[in-house]
Amino acid sequence: MSKQAKMIIHKEYKKGIIDPKLYGSFIEHLGRAVYTGIYEPNHPTADENGFRQDVLELVKALKVPAVRYPGGNFVSGYRWEDGTGDKKDRPVSADLAWHTIEPNEVGIDEFQDWAKKAETDIIMAVNLGTRGPEDARNLVEYCNGNIKTQYAEMRRKNGFDEPFSIKYWCLGNEMDGHWQICHKTASEYGRVALEAGKLMKMIDPNIELVICGSSNYNMDTFGTWEWTVLNEAYSVVDYISLHQYYSRSDCKSTEDFLGRASHMDSFIKGVAAICDAVQAKKHSKKKIHLSFDEWNVWDMSRWGGDAEADEPWREKTHILEQIYTFEDALLVGSMLSTLQNNCDRVKIACMAQLVNVIAPIMTEDGGKAWKQTIYYPYYFASVYGRGECLDAKVFCDIYRTSDGYNVPYVCASVVLAEEKDKIYIFASNLSLEEDTELTLCFEDFGEITPVSKTELYCEDLKAVNTKDCEAVSPTTVALSGRSDTSHTISLRKHSWNMFEFKLN
Ligand code: AHR
Repeated sequence: MSKQAKMIIHKEYKKGIIDPKLYGSFIEHLGRAVYTGIYEPNHPTADENGFRQDVLELVKALKVPAVRYPGGNFVSGYRWEDGTGDKKDRPVSADLAWHTIEPNEVGIDEFQDWAKKAETDIIMAVNLGTRGPEDARNLVEYCNGNIKTQYAEMRRKNGFDEPFSIKYWCLGNEMDGHWQICHKTASEYGRVALEAGKLMKMIDPNIELVICGSSNYNMDTFGTWEWTVLNEAYSVVDYISLHQYYSRSDCKSTEDFLGRASHMDSFIKGVAAICDAVQAKKHSKKKIHLSFDEWNVWDMSRWGGDAEADEPWREKTHILEQIYTFEDALLVGSMLSTLQNNCDRVKIACMAQLVNVIAPIMTEDGGKAWKQTIYYPYYFASVYGRGECLDAKVFCDIYRTSDGYNVPYVCASVVLAEEKDKIYIFASNLSLEEDTELTLCFEDFGEITPVSKTELYCEDLKAVNTKDCEAVSPTTVALSGRSDTSHTISLRKHSWNMFEFKLN
């Protein structure tokens, strides 16, 4: 027996245009994300700048629109100028955030080069931990300055005549977290964010700023933090950040874990409500958008699982190298649908991270690069999920998680392609036992034609990909059904799927 479900997709019911930056990612100076991740001068595929081309190819295939850099916790102790200029003059630093050695062989000079090659924009974070407004404005001037002033000239002297033109800037990172270097209270941070933001926009009025929201939904200060920092800095900021990681080991059951996207949805709606409350209180016409700039599956209980993590002051440590299972990919697929379905409010989102550190791409020092399970839903959402997200209504069975979230068995999103010639349905079946027959009712489109079905499925929820064996990979089959206004599609138990339909 299969479960029965129905989805109504009306042409005029829309969530909004998906900002391409919804499919952003993140590279931090952490573990092997930079060194032996994107950069390894002795690697057989390294280009003239030391960038691994095998990794670049995998990143380019994802069409990552923007990458947040250089942290993360790392940024709160970072001296950006240490990573500029002649490499032989750069200092070796102690990174207090991760207790490792930072050789400063890669900094913004190199990263902007890598970003060009990866065909991606940079979302730059400034240090509001050990540093403050003056240093933040200096960095904006270094990157974006186009007149003959000290930091713009410093960039030119380093070989870059043209400004890097970085548009999106994060005002620090997770400043509410006690672990953060120079952690602050909400009002301390709100004041600094306002003043730093003011100076940064005086240097370049075209930039857009992200203020730090809570480090996650479970922080004791969640809600009051957002309220306070927005009250302080509303006039200067454009986005507020959300961060959230989920892990199977924090959940009582697989069903609870697979249902975490419902939690993500409530988190987004909660932060949007706080933004709107501050807007109303301030009688402001400006809407603050959301930047979900760290999201993924991450089992923090395995953080210290690597012996190296306990041994401080090493370089290129194998830390946070989570190996993703098939069930992790299922949740990632649902999280992507949740982000799409909230595209009216979430304008930036960054899968954290991109290479080696809790990442879809893994590398071996001197060896292969390969795709983790979570690469696939990210790839399909990023490549095909561009255009307009439709407000489709799903009618299906729901279950309740042990912590009280109601989860539809079918987690789905619908995207009308930019050219308005195709519709993509992204749909996970979260039932561990039963397949689902999903009837799609297309309204006001005329007849439409099924084209293909891509499925990510594995009987073993714990299956993983390794450098030598890709146990979890998608299959795509052509669909041969006739043109109609209604189509029934099959979703296998615990599977993630993408269906393509052609508008006639
Ligand atoms: O992405 C790993 C870490 O998680 C980041 O450095 C930090 O911002 C978050 O706590």
